Amino acid sequence: MLEVDSLSVTYGSRRERRAAVPAVDDVTFRVDRGQIVGLVGESGCGKTSIARAIVGAVPVGSGVISLDGHRLGPRRSSAERRRIQMVFQDPGTSLDPRLTVARTLAWAASPGLRAGDIADETVADLLRQVGLPPEVAGERPAKLSGGQRQRVAVARALAAEPDVVIADEVVSSLDVSAAGAVLDLLRMISTELGAGVLFISHDLSVVRNLCHRTIVMYRGQVVEQAPTADLFEKPGHPYTRALIDSVPSVERRTTGPVLRDDDARADDAAATGCRFRPRCALATHECATDQPALVGPAHQVRCHHAWTTALEEA
Ligand SMILES: Nc1ncnc2c1ncn2[C@@H]1O[C@H](COP(=O)(O)OP(=O)(O)O)[C@@H](O)[C@H]1O
Ligand code: SF4
Ligand SMILES: [Mg+2]
Repeated sequence: MLEVDSLSVTYGSRRERRAAVPAVDDVTFRVDRGQIVGLVGESGCGKTSIARAIVGAVPVGSGVISLDGHRLGPRRSSAERRRIQMVFQDPGTSLDPRLTVARTLAWAASPGLRAGDIADETVADLLRQVGLPPEVAGERPAKLSGGQRQRVAVARALAAEPDVVIADEVVSSLDVSAAGAVLDLLRMISTELGAGVLFISHDLSVVRNLCHRTIVMYRGQVVEQAPTADLFEKPGHPYTRALIDSVPSVERRTTGPVLRDDDARADDAAATGCRFRPRCALATHECATDQPALVGPAHQVRCHHAWTTALEEA
């Protein structure tokens, strides 16, 4: 239902954009109804830029974003905007500190209305959905814990009855139990409300437990995309393997070392060839000259030597 097709986003003035490497480069994926899709990759790889392009907060350089086959343009109606809701990392700054929870939720449920008698039931219902007691309605964000604030942010997203919820690092600032509660809410949103969820995170262990499909990004590009179980069973891209091997809770080491230690050279990644090459222990001459394409049906990998292990290579 949410389809992102060949999306590119480039920042800067028109002149800067011509020379710049796009922050998001030709990214294609979809999020179906009731599905949770994970988007992972290190800081700066373009995850938030994708989210912001989807909600219309940054201009789409090229590509198409559509919802149920209907293309979303740069100027969106309020109905279109309500269909895709975003929840951010820091609920402390994403909630208006001056408004009570009731006002925030009532306004999100029906913009323009004040939190009056009509909205009370809606507010109580939203709070119930996210597991907060009704008394919270009268509080301002400063009186709540981080976990409670993030639940209010989720409730605010739900108030619009969205088709898609984008969760951008939503548990990064929470302790383990508060994070668990918010993850349960995201599961509820997909299973009970049938919305699609795009779950953005740098934490692979959370993605593994939550997401149906997982997309791995490196420097603006998708380097691997697969059903989550396949991705963790048989990671094909050296970067994905390095990410998986760096998760302490994953007992199985995949293939031995794939990252070279001269990571600093990543900054001068060649314009031609594979962007991951400066960090890749498997790089060959071909990797320097030809940019690999993202290939495969359900399990897609962007690598000339996908699934090659360092041992086989040696
Ligand atoms: N408003 C902006 N102006 C210019 N460059 C930006 C802006 N926002 C992000 N970028 C750049 O775009 C790239 C991707 O950033 P971002 O989408 O925030 O990545 P992530 O969310 O994966 O950390 C980074 O190189 C970042 O510096
Ligand atoms: S294409 Fe070459 S450099 Fe790029 S990830 Fe694959 S093996 Fe490494
Ligand atoms: Mg981000």
